[in-house]
Amino acid sequence: MMKTLLFNPSTIVTIDTSGKNFKRGKELSDIGCLYEHSIVIEDDLIKDILPTASVEKNKFDEIIDATGKTVLPGLVECHTHTAFAGSRADEFRQKLSGIGYEDIAKKGGGINTTVQAVRSSSFEELVNLIKPRVEHFISQGITTLEIKSGYGLNFENERKLLHVINYLNEIYPIDIVPTFLGAHTFPKEFKENRRGYFDEIINKMIPHFAEQKLAEFCDGFCESTAFTADEIDEIFSAAVKNRLKLKLHTEQFNAIGGLGVALKHKAVSVDHLEVIKNEDIPKLSNSDTVAVLLPGVSFFLNHTYAPARKLIEQNAIVALATDYNPGSSHISSLSLIMSIAALKMKMTIEETISAVTINAAKALCREKTIGSIEIGKKADFAVFNPSDYSDIVYSIGNNLNCMTIKNGIVIYQT
Ligand code: NIG
Ligand code: FE
Repeated sequence: MMKTLLFNPSTIVTIDTSGKNFKRGKELSDIGCLYEHSIVIEDDLIKDILPTASVEKNKFDEIIDATGKTVLPGLVECHTHTAFAGSRADEFRQKLSGIGYEDIAKKGGGINTTVQAVRSSSFEELVNLIKPRVEHFISQGITTLEIKSGYGLNFENERKLLHVINYLNEIYPIDIVPTFLGAHTFPKEFKENRRGYFDEIINKMIPHFAEQKLAEFCDGFCESTAFTADEIDEIFSAAVKNRLKLKLHTEQFNAIGGLGVALKHKAVSVDHLEVIKNEDIPKLSNSDTVAVLLPGVSFFLNHTYAPARKLIEQNAIVALATDYNPGSSHISSLSLIMSIAALKMKMTIEETISAVTINAAKALCREKTIGSIEIGKKADFAVFNPSDYSDIVYSIGNNLNCMTIKNGIVIYQT
């Protein structure tokens, strides 16, 4: 057995949940700081948290010095579209000149532009494009990363993307969680035959990808430019039959019934919620479904922000993510997202920290093993240079992480 000591940080932000493993409403503010403590690690697990004055350093195989630093649980990035090829810089230019994201999509651009780039890239080309993106996430202290497919939009190319995501999970020490997003939008060749594509998803992709264990979650986009609530309902029924867990992009531009369908199927998370109706907030708050907010999208598209304050005040389980993608949030800095959440959605610094740790872990069904520094959980940590955790959110756009630890092993260090 390997005994490691994470020694002498000035602050440990434990996100203590007292065994509950997520935070709802005002609980997001309690982040459980410990001072003058060190963390005892046995193999890949947290064994104990002790006052630094009481630890005997000679009892350990390895000492990781964190003197003066702030230790957080390994950050969890629970919503990304990192597996893309090509660039949409020209569409960004169009957006800057006043053309809307949805207008670009209606003219055949948007997601379908990236689909073309992915289809013409090989497995190896995709791996080489995506590797530095994963490494950038690791450098920020992210130890669990969700990546969606959704830019293949046919059997062969969705399978290729899922293979790429699973391969990246094998070669990197962090956990990469694969999500199948075949229901991202309708590919060009099926514009006039929606049922045709829909049948491909339900009869071919979902059963095959689930059987091959290529995906853990099934996601969809319920929106007027993508799938209707009834279509998502059918896709979710097929996904559940094949034992996939559920997530949904919904209430982003239009509230067309996605939230109701997601709650009916007990989806693990509903993501976006920029235009969630006031009267629907209690339905979400009374469920165990996580509200994953993506303020980078609102910032990038100059769009409405999700009502984070109302959601938190009405007791929802709120998480935050980058939604890193080429079209609506070309932002891969999770701390920048925390800053935008604080400035634009009026979340407190403590709430943003709970939202990228324990609640993001819950959005990936991993809240029992990661997301907080509690005895028995995985020894996954993000170590930040400053002694005050406020700096992570205050230092806008800067990466203050200086060490990433996964399963008790230092995997990144500056
Ligand atoms: O989460 N909402 C749909 N999907 C992505 C955008 C993907 C794209 O534009 O390429 C999102 O915002
Ligand atoms: Fe997304």
